[in-house]
Amino acid sequence: MVEKKHTRAQFATRLGVIATTVGSAVGLGNMWRFPYEAGNGGGGAFMLLYILFILLLGIPVICAEFVIGRETRSNVLGAFKQLKTSRFWQIIGYIGILSSLMILSFYSVVAGWTIEYFVQSIVGNISSDVNFHEQFVGFTTGWRALLWTVVFLLINLLVIIRGVRKGLERMSNIMMPLLFIIIIIFCINSLTMPGASQGLDFLFRPDLSKFSWNVVLSALGQAFFSLSIGLGCMLTYASYFNDKTNIVRSAAATAGLDTLVAILAGIMIFPAVFTFGMSPAEGPTLMFEVLPRIFSMMPAGAIWATLFFFMLFLASLSSTISMSEISITFLTEQGRLSRSKACIVCTAIALFFGSLCALSFGPLERLNLFNLFNNISSNVLLPIGGMLISIFVGWILDRGVLRRQLTNNESIRVPMFKLIIFCLKFVAPVCLAIILIMGLIG
Ligand code: PFF
Repeated sequence: MVEKKHTRAQFATRLGVIATTVGSAVGLGNMWRFPYEAGNGGGGAFMLLYILFILLLGIPVICAEFVIGRETRSNVLGAFKQLKTSRFWQIIGYIGILSSLMILSFYSVVAGWTIEYFVQSIVGNISSDVNFHEQFVGFTTGWRALLWTVVFLLINLLVIIRGVRKGLERMSNIMMPLLFIIIIIFCINSLTMPGASQGLDFLFRPDLSKFSWNVVLSALGQAFFSLSIGLGCMLTYASYFNDKTNIVRSAAATAGLDTLVAILAGIMIFPAVFTFGMSPAEGPTLMFEVLPRIFSMMPAGAIWATLFFFMLFLASLSSTISMSEISITFLTEQGRLSRSKACIVCTAIALFFGSLCALSFGPLERLNLFNLFNNISSNVLLPIGGMLISIFVGWILDRGVLRRQLTNNESIRVPMFKLIIFCLKFVAPVCLAIILIMGLIG
C-alpha cells in the first residue's frame, strides 16, 4: 500500500518516540565505532571534541530534522519538494539516500560479525584458550563474513516489510532498557580490572598534543554517525511523530542517552585494553578482540557473551531499520512503489554493496569498499548534509513554521529557543564548513 500524507502511521506513545529514535541512534556506532575512533583519536582529546559537537551541532541538527519531518510528514526528498524552495535543497534528499545505502551496506557487515560472535558464544568458542586476534582475522578474511551479512540483511528485510509502527515500537521498548542494564554490568566488571585507572585516564584526560584537524573531523563524523543525523533519518522518523511530541525535549533525550551509551562503551573497553596490554589504536577490530577476552575471564562468561552479542545484534537491527526507512519512504512516496517492493529494492542494493564490503578484509582487500563507505559517509556526506540542513532551517525555512513546530503551536515553552536558532544559523554552518575544509585538506 502506498502511504499517503494523511494516512501515515504515527507513534502511539511518548515512550515509543524516544525508544525508536534512541533505537536508531544507539547501535554499533556506540559500541563498535566510538571506542575505536576514540582510540585512534588519542582518547580524551577525541572525547572532548565529540561531546562538544553533540551539544553544539548534534542537538540543533536533530531539532532541525525533526522540524522538517513533522512539518512535511514526508520522505527526505519529498520534504524539500513540498516546502517549495529552490530545487537546490533537494540535494539534501539525494545525499541522505546515498549515504543511508552506503551505511546500510557496511553496517550490515559488522552486524554480521555480531551474529558470528553470538554463534561462537553459544558453541563455547569464547574461552580462555582461544587466540582472539587470530579468531577474528580468520573469520573476517573468509566467506562466513559474507554469509552473515546476507543473513543479517534478510532478517532486516523481514522486519522492515512489516511496517513502521508495530514491529519497531514493540521491539525498541523492550530492548533498549535491557541493553542498557547489561552494559552497566560490564562497566562495573571493567572497573575492577588492574588497567582501570589507565583506561579511564586515557578516555577522559585530553592530551592536547593529540589535537589535529583529522581528529576533529573524525570526532565530528562520529557524532553525526552516532546520532543518525545529516542524512534525513531523524527527519523520516519525525514524519511519524504526533502533534504532541516535544521536539526539543526528544532531541535532547536522544542525544543524551546516545552519548551515555557511547561513554559507557568506552568505560567497558579501555580498562580492558590497558589490562591486556593492547593498543587503543587497534582500529575497527578493537571491540571484537577486547570483549571476547573480557567474557572469557568472567564467571559464566559464555552466557554473558551470548547475551551481549544478542543484544548488540538487536541494537544493530533497530539502527538498520531506521536507515532502511529513509530509502523505503522515498521509494514508496516518490517512486510510488509498494512498501514490499521498496523494501526488496533497498535490500537488493545493500546485498550487492554489502557483499563487496564483507569481502573487503579478505578477497577484495585491495578495493576495500568497507573503509571507503565507512569514512566517506561519516566524515564527508553526513557533515555536508548536516550543514545544508542547518542552513536551510536557520535561513530559508519560514520562521513561523520553525516556531510552530518547536513550540507545538505555542502550547509549550522552549527554554533554549534562541540558542537553538543561533546554533542553526551561525555555529553549525560555520563550524561544519571549517572542519570539513580543514579536515579534508589537512
Ligand atoms: N546511529 C547508528 C549507530 O550509532 O549505530 C548508526 C546509524 C543509524 C547511522 C541510522 C545513520 C542512520 F541513518
